[in-house]
Amino acid sequence: MIETDPLKSYPMLVGRLRDAIKGDAALEAAVGGDFVTVGKLEYALLTGLDLKPEQLVVDVGCGSGRLAFHLSKIPGLRYIGTDIVRELLDHAEKLSGRPDWKFVLTDGVGIPCADGCADFVCFFSVLTHLTHEDSFRYLREARRVLKPGGRIVFSFLEFYIYSHWAVFDLSVNQGAPGDHLNQFISRDGIAAWAHHLGMVVEQIHDGDKPHIEIDEDLTWHDGRVMRGKGNLGQSVAVLVK
Ligand SMILES: C[S@@+](CC[C@H](N)C(=O)[O-])C[C@H]1O[C@@H](n2cnc3c(N)ncnc32)[C@H](O)[C@@H]1O
Repeated sequence: MIETDPLKSYPMLVGRLRDAIKGDAALEAAVGGDFVTVGKLEYALLTGLDLKPEQLVVDVGCGSGRLAFHLSKIPGLRYIGTDIVRELLDHAEKLSGRPDWKFVLTDGVGIPCADGCADFVCFFSVLTHLTHEDSFRYLREARRVLKPGGRIVFSFLEFYIYSHWAVFDLSVNQGAPGDHLNQFISRDGIAAWAHHLGMVVEQIHDGDKPHIEIDEDLTWHDGRVMRGKGNLGQSVAVLVK
């Protein structure tokens, strides 16, 4: 059976990878691979949305620091990373090298921030592992902590994209007990969520089509090279408060 509770499945995943892979590489594998390339794409996506140096980014489910590592080069940027796995958070904190940043252990769908303080709340490959109910609860929290005009950026899986179907197929046919949930989200669901949150869907991008401006060539582990524009693989939605 798939383990739908990430508080159980994620520590198990990290434990399995720790047994199989030596050192910090296990923590970097735990967030899904292509650590540097995906991190650069997440970074370029946010900077392409006009992220400014003095702003506050809340990175929910920051994992082992794929995004934090690249954001850390922006002096003055404020950042709060949250995650449910202490080991991943500690690695993210170490990689960022930013004593002024916060890395907070959480255990549900709360965001440990005051109302109206954040410019961006992002969920990269996080809502993909939650039930729709918890995703909506998280988005409601994200809206609470956002400033007016602030943005939620999240990545998601959808059935009509061929590479996403492969994720579903793998869960169905090769899933092992305790594997985490790979949750799909439909665009009509996103439109309804935005409506009920009082937010606007500003952008939505197919995961398999390049849409992120990049200023260097990026190479994936399978040899694919992205030039000029890249894409994460997962689709991306941007909601504005
Ligand atoms: C696929 S990884 C992605 C990590 C990171 N966002 C990135 O792009 O590298 C998913 C992360 O979400 C975390 N996570 C799962 N459920 C969570 C929850 N309810 N709240 C916060 N983090 C969660 C996991 O521990 C894991 O680090």
